[in-house]
Amino acid sequence: MPITDAPFKITENLLEEIARHGYVIIDNFLPDSAIRALNRQARTLKTAGSLKQAAIGKAAAQQQDSKVRGDSIFWLDEAGPSPELALYLSRMQSLQESLNRYFFLGLFEFETHFAVYPPGAVYRKHLDQFRDQQERQVSAILYLNTDWQPDDGGELRFYLNGTSDQSFIDIAPVAGKLVLFLSGEFPHEVLPARRQRISLTGWFRTRAQDIR
Ligand code: OGA
Ligand code: MN
Repeated sequence: MPITDAPFKITENLLEEIARHGYVIIDNFLPDSAIRALNRQARTLKTAGSLKQAAIGKAAAQQQDSKVRGDSIFWLDEAGPSPELALYLSRMQSLQESLNRYFFLGLFEFETHFAVYPPGAVYRKHLDQFRDQQERQVSAILYLNTDWQPDDGGELRFYLNGTSDQSFIDIAPVAGKLVLFLSGEFPHEVLPARRQRISLTGWFRTRAQDIR
């Protein structure tokens, strides 16, 4: 079945929100049918044993500690294309172009993985950038959880004020919601959920030499 590209538009408004606040939350980023298909694809990968326990830290010194980070992931560069992934990637490509035009960010690639959190799993408070490794400029998390209920938990706790723990918002991981934010600015964590929690998480990157 062909997927019609529903009328999501990268508006001036959206870009202004990012300029003003450093993040934006977009509902219904993809049509519901595409979200459901992506959710199925993630579950199929899980059933096939293709997900890997996510690690923490940088490439050379990566560790696994499910008390710190409990999701399992699948990088999309290993994926066969599906029409829904193609739609997602083309939207991300348009976003990348808009971000570059508006903010002169010099983003040149997008890396992305499915992430599946079993019930109860968390990802403790962290930043998506390392101090000496800042290629990740903008984080993009698309939630794939259909029929998510308020008491299912699993919120993204998003700290608005750098180091302070006082000021945060809790973002429910409901189907079709996209959270976009500057990777170096906002500590965040994943709270435990009652149900399996699925997302497509990606980062717009600059070339290493652009920022040194
Ligand atoms: C991450 C992350 C948040 C979420 O993968 O780095 O912070 O809500 N994910 O899934
Ligand atoms: Mn993160």
